[in-house]
Amino acid sequence: MKKFTCVADIGDLSLAVKEALEVKADRFAYTELGRNKTLLMIFFNSSLRTRLSTQKAAMNLGMNVMVLDVNQGAWKLETERGVVMDGDKAEHLLEAIPVMGSYCDIIGVRSFARFESKAEDYEERIIEQFIRYSGRPVFSMEAATRHPLQSFADLITIEEHKRVARPKVVLTWAPHPKALPQAVPNSFAEWMNAADYDFVITHPEGYELDEKFVAGATVEYDQRKAFEGADFIYAKNWAAYQGDSYGKILSTDRSWTVDAEKMALTNNAYFMHCLPVRRNMIVTDEVIESPQSLVIEEAANREISAQVVLKRLLEGLK
Ligand code: CP
Repeated sequence: MKKFTCVADIGDLSLAVKEALEVKADRFAYTELGRNKTLLMIFFNSSLRTRLSTQKAAMNLGMNVMVLDVNQGAWKLETERGVVMDGDKAEHLLEAIPVMGSYCDIIGVRSFARFESKAEDYEERIIEQFIRYSGRPVFSMEAATRHPLQSFADLITIEEHKRVARPKVVLTWAPHPKALPQAVPNSFAEWMNAADYDFVITHPEGYELDEKFVAGATVEYDQRKAFEGADFIYAKNWAAYQGDSYGKILSTDRSWTVDAEKMALTNNAYFMHCLPVRRNMIVTDEVIESPQSLVIEEAANREISAQVVLKRLLEGLK
């Protein structure tokens, strides 16, 4: 594998899950693979799980790890070409990227949507420049439009817990006080469609996602109806995608919060969320603390998804 930014890069999903379960059963089986290889993780945005799980995965593979928080201690970076750099940005990404590439073997990048321009976000201008100019294999640690390490961990978690071959999986919008990117729901939809589950998306009108990601999913505006018979409920907030509303909050309606009464409509569904989560906005204390909540297992599987991706990128170096 030469890059990892979307579901297509991982290839056959059943093989990927099989490999993930093998890695999980013996996560130190490949400690020689990463010897004398260096991972550079670059964060334009904050992280808890991605930072720790990816670093742990790299250590399991015997790699050296360097972490750069672009906004803490590094030169402020200009990202647009053609800008007269007479402001506070001291370095251009076009020099910074190949320099960073010269110090490492593999690069992970976290760079969220900025909501300044839909075109800029959906063209993935930051991570695409790393792919083009670093000279190294690049993987996404959440980019503007997708979060594939999270979606891969979600898929592993569903495969570990599903009770039927083709479970009903429901992605539900839930309220949040801040405008959040569509990366997690886009990516989750992309992976659930690729896994060919019975996949339903529910959200208030106005929160329609990019059709490219929705693809064959059923969209149901009645949240209660969507929950009926569900095996997995995956909650997430996102800001509006469509038209002039891009990046805006259209609703903070707490009747969309996932609670025990709605979970009772499901087929004793498991509750999932990528974390961090705003309790009693996205989900009630009762649901997230219930035996059906998979949020901790899901986060733990981030180490596994990262390790499979790094293993394949290391194998691709040869
Ligand atoms: N789910 C996730 O990516 O968590 P962090 O933002 O803490 O990395």
